Amino acid sequence: MHAIAPRKITVVGAGYVGSTCAHLAAQKNLAREVVLIDILEGRPQGIALDLNQSAAVEGFLTRVVGTNDYTATHDSDVVIMTAGLPRKPGMSRSDLLETNGKIVRQVADEIRRGSPQAIVIVVTNPLDSMVTLMQYHTGFPARRVIGMAGVLDAARFAFFLAEATGTSPADVDAMVLGAHGDSMVPMPRHCSINGVAAQDLLSADQLDEMAHRTRHGGAEIVKLLKTGSAWYAPASASVAMAEAMLNDSRRMMPCACRLNGEFGFEGLYMGVPAILGSGGVERIVELSLTAEARALMQKTAGAVEADTSTMRDLGLM
Ligand code: APR
Repeated sequence: MHAIAPRKITVVGAGYVGSTCAHLAAQKNLAREVVLIDILEGRPQGIALDLNQSAAVEGFLTRVVGTNDYTATHDSDVVIMTAGLPRKPGMSRSDLLETNGKIVRQVADEIRRGSPQAIVIVVTNPLDSMVTLMQYHTGFPARRVIGMAGVLDAARFAFFLAEATGTSPADVDAMVLGAHGDSMVPMPRHCSINGVAAQDLLSADQLDEMAHRTRHGGAEIVKLLKTGSAWYAPASASVAMAEAMLNDSRRMMPCACRLNGEFGFEGLYMGVPAILGSGGVERIVELSLTAEARALMQKTAGAVEADTSTMRDLGLM
């Protein structure tokens, strides 16, 4: 048996994404305690019991706690926020703005009171708006409130690139910037397979087609599932971010960060490459953009700003 760090991860929302996050975090022995909290009575408790009963088989040391009471979440090191409604077919992420905005506001108050030192990873959609609200209502420094989207979008792009080139997804490095929505900016010029530029292996048309599929990657799954949105890859991406920060591994991942002049934007959250460590976002990494990519970044920033002003009109911030 190996040692386990005396850390606590809280996962808010014991739905598909939240329970998969708890499962992955436990399997990786990421924390001594993973607290799963939901408003539904019985659901987080039932999932926690089920997960704990897999510990003897899997050999993990993490204890999962299911609860409806925030007391158990107090002094968490990392909070993964997944509570909210998922997208239904035909619904855009922005349709969720008001409903999920109210949930984020309420959860932010609880996190501020009970876990004032936590790093918060927001997964709830519409992502860029919900992470903006979370930072606003917790009042935490922006480096400790981060949105999960870029890791997921890049992983989707990487899978398509691996399929098209017949290579292992583990060898593919893909990059996606911008908002987590239809305006996201896949960056084919920055994709490679173990150092070989994707542009050397695939035609411009093939790359365009994959970028398009990445942009609509979430919607493609919503359409197939009919009753909700993706959960395995979103949970993998969230737990990878938590792991990078808890282990201070300084991995560089695309995440929704609050920009402070980087890429020419001020005060808005958007997907950019970030170095993740024990303090949260240790550094945002800027890269040179083509005129075309710059124009797409302006467009995606416009989409984030439009949602922010809707949230102000709705009295959410
Ligand atoms: N506090 C805690 N939990 C809540 C609250 C709240 N105020 N409001 C809702 N929940 C819970 C629901 O009871 C439900 O169990 O959040 C959970 C959401 O789970 P699912 O409906 O299964 O949704 P899921 O697929 O997990 O997606 C969650 O992640 O990717 C995003 O767009 C997705 O915003 C959605 C979120």
